[in-house]
Amino acid sequence: MTVVALVPAAGQGTRLGLNRPKAFVELRGRALLSWAVDGLFESGAVDEVVVMVPTDMLSDARALVPSARVVVGGAERTDSVRAGLAVAGAHDLVLVHDAARPLTPPAMIGRVVQALRAGASAVIPVLPVADTVKQVDADGAVVATVDRARLRAVQTPQGFTTEALRAAYEAAPNELATDDAGLVERAGGTVLTVPGDPLAMKITTAFDLRVAQALAQEQS
Ligand code: CTP
Ligand code: MG
Repeated sequence: MTVVALVPAAGQGTRLGLNRPKAFVELRGRALLSWAVDGLFESGAVDEVVVMVPTDMLSDARALVPSARVVVGGAERTDSVRAGLAVAGAHDLVLVHDAARPLTPPAMIGRVVQALRAGASAVIPVLPVADTVKQVDADGAVVATVDRARLRAVQTPQGFTTEALRAAYEAAPNELATDDAGLVERAGGTVLTVPGDPLAMKITTAFDLRVAQALAQEQS
C-alpha cells in the first residue's frame, strides 16, 4: 500500500502575527514547512508529499522542499486539502498534516499509518485534555462543565484510506471543518484514535513559537 501526505501550508498565520505566512516562519533557521516535510519523509511511511501554499509563495516553497510537489492552496484549509487531493497521485492511503506542526515525531506518523494498514479507514492522533473544559454562553457565563475524561485534543497527521477521504470531501463540497476527520464523521465514517505526542503541538501563537524554539534547542 502506498501513502501520499498532503501538507496544508497556505494559511496566513494571522494569530502568529509575523510578516509572512506561518509555514515560512523559521524555527532554528529552517522554515516550519521544511521541518514538517522532512519529518514525513523521515518516518519512512510516506511515498509522496504534496504541499499547498499561498500563490505568491510557490517558488519559495519549491526551493524549500524540492522533494515535494507544490501547488497553490485555497481560501480555507478545506479548500487547500481539496487542491492537494486533486493533484495527488493514485495512492491507497492519504495523510493530511499541518505545516504548522514542525516537531511531530516521525514515530507518531508511523503509528497513524500502521493503524491504517491494520484496517482502519480513518485515524487521528489525540492527547488527553489536561485542563477542565467548560461550555459558556455568549456573555461568558458557564453553561456546563464537560466530562474531561471523554475529551481528546486532536493533532495531525490524520490518516485515511484515499477512498474514505475522497468520499467525505465529495459528500460535503461546501462545508468547512477545522479537521479532516470531522468531514469523515459527518459522512458517517468511523474514526479511530491513536496516541498523539505533545511534540506534535501546532504553532498558532507567538507563545507556541517560543515553546517550539526551546524544544527544538533541547533536541539538537
Ligand atoms: N491552511 C491552509 N490553507 C488555508 C488555511 C490554513 O493550508 N486557507 C493550513 C495552515 O498553513 C496550517 C494549517 O492549515 O499549516 C492549520 O491552520 P492554522 O493553524 O489555522 O494556520 P493559519 O490559518 O495560517 O493561521 P491563522 O488561522 O492564525 O491565520
Ligand atoms: Mg487558520
